[in-house]
Parts: sequence; structure tokens; C-alpha cells
Amino acid sequence: MLAIIGGSGLTTLSNLDVSHREVVRTPYGEPSGALVFGQVCGNPAMFLPRHGYGHTIPPHLVNYRANLWAIHHHRASAVISVASVGGIRADLEPGDILIPDQIIDYTWGRKSTFFDGNGSPVTHVDFTEPYDRALRERIVAASAELALPVKVGGVYAATQGPRLESAAEINRLERDGADIVGMTGMPEAVLARELELPYAAISVVANHAAGRASSANGIHFERLEQVLHEAMGRVRTIIEHIAGCGDACRPPLKP
Ligand code: HPA
Repeated sequence: MLAIIGGSGLTTLSNLDVSHREVVRTPYGEPSGALVFGQVCGNPAMFLPRHGYGHTIPPHLVNYRANLWAIHHHRASAVISVASVGGIRADLEPGDILIPDQIIDYTWGRKSTFFDGNGSPVTHVDFTEPYDRALRERIVAASAELALPVKVGGVYAATQGPRLESAAEINRLERDGADIVGMTGMPEAVLARELELPYAAISVVANHAAGRASSANGIHFERLEQVLHEAMGRVRTIIEHIAGCGDACRPPLKP
């Protein structure tokens, strides 16, 4: 079953035909909200809003471990994470969708592993390719079939938040090789890897990053919501297509 974690701008999945909701108790505490189960075009799917239903949980306080554990417990076969980002690379405009293929983690103090002692053997997961290649290709293929352009590949810088970055910090991230910046990509991606859950991200550029282009003198929050609203409509269409809608010749992701 496909799991979708929604971020800012995607707090519900309107194309999910909801069957039930479940509050999942986990060994790591409470997930961000009840898991919503249903069908997208007849295929099972589940949805979790990362910041809670009232969008009240800031990025540094999201219980990423509980979220991923709950999704895994309910036998997700793959996770698509949707999140808004700031665009650092010069060709990125608000409203663009990018499918990242790398991550740099600048977050701190977050509970970022399931392997933290408890008598279990020390475990190091391979994170060379932080996003699942096949799932990324599936997202890119769906977008191409729908003629909805997405930018393929890019380095996601995960910052601590909840504040936005300074212009100098964005310059530093660019020197490090980052193309986009967001606050929730880590530890979500590595926790999925630890659970051996295929995981990929759909990043929606909400704004130019601090100090760049239209954000040269500050980030304009008024515009941001409108951009996200429109772009998330395209993201929903892509997710529907991946779930199997109108795609007779290709099976949906594993039930
Ligand atoms: N920085 C960090 N996270 C973000 C941004 C940003 O500019 N825009 C949306 N999420």
C-alpha cells in the first residue's frame, strides 16, 4: 500500500476515498495525527499529515520515528513524502516541482535513528542513495505521462527551522552543493531506510531561498500560500497516477 506523508500545503489528500482513520500507538510516542486509510482510484493508500491536522507541529518537533513506525506497522510498501522547499539553484522558480536524489543533513537534536542502543547490535544503514531509485523513477515517469514538468535530481539541504535561513546560510548551502532547502527531509528519509521502506520525495518550491531573486529583500509569505495551493494540485494528480489511476497497462504499487 502506498503511504503519503503530506507537508505544508498538503494537509489532506482530497483524492483519497477515505475508509477509516486510526490513531496508532507506537513505542516512540504519538504520530503527528491519525493515519487515514482509503483508496485512490480503487487502490489502497494511507495518508499522514506531517505537521498534524491543524498544522500545529513545527518541523523540529515532528515525531518522525512515530510517523515512520506507524506507516511501516500498517504495511506500507512505499512512502512518498511531499514537502515545500526554498529554491536555491538559479533555474528554480516558485511552483516548480523537483524530485531530489541527494540530501545533506544540517538538523540537530532530532531523534534520528531506531538503532539507539537498547541492547540491539550496532547497526549502520547504507545511505549512499538516500531516496529509492525505482520510486523516484516512478514519480518522474508519471509526471512525464501526464505532461506535468518536474525537475529531476537535486540536493536537498535539511535545516533545523522553524526559522528560515539567513542569506549567508543559503550561500553556504549552495557552496556545499545544495539545490533546495527544507526543514523536514531529515530524519524522515533515514528512518524510512532503517525500516527498509522505499522512500522518495516530491519537493515543491514555495519561494526563492533567502537572499535570492524575489527573496532578495526577504521572503514574502503572502505569495507563498497561493503558489503552494496551485502546485499541490499538480502533486495530487501525479500521486493519483502513481497509485494506478487511468493507467491500465501498469500495475499499481504492491498492495
Ligand atoms: N527554507 C527552508 N524551508 C522551506 C523554505 C525555505 O526557504 N521554503 C519552504 N520551506
